[in-house]
Amino acid sequence: MTTLTAIKKLNIQQIRNDFPILQTEMRGKPLVFLDSAASSQKPKGVIDAISQYYESQHANVHRGVYELSQEATDAFELGRERVRAFINSEFTDEVIFTRGCTESINLVASCFGKKFLNKGDEVIISAMEHHSNIVPWQMICEEKGAILKVIPVNEKGEIIFEEYEKLLSDRTKIVSIVHISNSLGTINPIKAVIELAHERGVPVLVDGAQATLHTKIDVQELDVDFYTFSGHKVYGPTGIGVLYGKRKWLDAMPPYQGGGEMIKTVSFEKTTYNELPFKFEAGTPDISGAIGLGIALKYITDLGLDAIAEHEKELLEYGTKKLLEIDGLRIIGTSENKASVISFLIDGTHPYDIGTILDKMGIAVRTGHHCTQPLMDFYGIPGTVRASFAVYTSIEDIDKLVAGVERAARMLR
Ligand code: ALA
Repeated sequence: MTTLTAIKKLNIQQIRNDFPILQTEMRGKPLVFLDSAASSQKPKGVIDAISQYYESQHANVHRGVYELSQEATDAFELGRERVRAFINSEFTDEVIFTRGCTESINLVASCFGKKFLNKGDEVIISAMEHHSNIVPWQMICEEKGAILKVIPVNEKGEIIFEEYEKLLSDRTKIVSIVHISNSLGTINPIKAVIELAHERGVPVLVDGAQATLHTKIDVQELDVDFYTFSGHKVYGPTGIGVLYGKRKWLDAMPPYQGGGEMIKTVSFEKTTYNELPFKFEAGTPDISGAIGLGIALKYITDLGLDAIAEHEKELLEYGTKKLLEIDGLRIIGTSENKASVISFLIDGTHPYDIGTILDKMGIAVRTGHHCTQPLMDFYGIPGTVRASFAVYTSIEDIDKLVAGVERAARMLR
């Protein structure tokens, strides 16, 4: 286990210099970007790798005998290998590139559902899921006559583990749960969730959209069956995402989309499918996306996830303490086990109005239901103001947020 003293201290100012957008102004003021849970900003290395690819390496992949195509293929596959190393999957072909975490979950819901779900079967999710881990399961359950079961949460925004245990039954075919809640920041006990499901022979998908930025993921150590995340939330480009799946499941599932690349042979009578990972990657992939994502993951690894987590813990503690000093401010999501998200409301004000006033000060936060309407319904609120942090977030950013929120609350009351 890493001790606190062993964790290196990050130079945040130096890190901020790696992100060109943080040197810009919004509304005539230096940008204070506190919406990294929606999408993180990109370091120069990622931006440069993408433009360098288009300037000197671009050709289609896996298709040409000519050198340029082979170079592009090597660069693309290096991106895949970097993902493999980052999540420590056993095999590179267990890493499928998708358009994003949403598409990864849709792929599993659709393909796993087609193969393994039947009438009366059950799928378990939790009450704190993002819409992208609710709707795909609702769609396939409707198609197959299966039933969606929901693990309830408590007031702090934690899953009620005993209720999860009660929901698991002979009819459960899969559990699909978020690692870190995008609205609340709660870190779910996914290791325990997986162990319990596996005791009953049930596979587990973990939606890691908010986790891969903040915490070390080891899919072998977790023994997770599917793990999904998006490139753009881990300092990488938009339009690329990852589905990790154990070979045994990916092999058993039918393809998601048909087209080039995913086939072995095609005739009008019968098509046979390509091996992993290509079976699930129909059409020309997002080549520059895979390259950029690989560089983004290298950037995180070079900084060190322990050091990043330590910095973000400091931000979370400081931000929570300072925001709670504001009269009438209430934090939604108060688990002791949280990542760097603070969702809050201020008595007598609407989140949208707070967000709009903060925007005038150059402070970017997200307001609304954060694509978790059922969770907002549980709390009986329309939404929250959400400030979310990343490695480039500074204590000064938080001071500006606190001053801005105080001012906005005064103006609105
Ligand atoms: N899922 C993203 C968020 O939480 C977009 O903001």
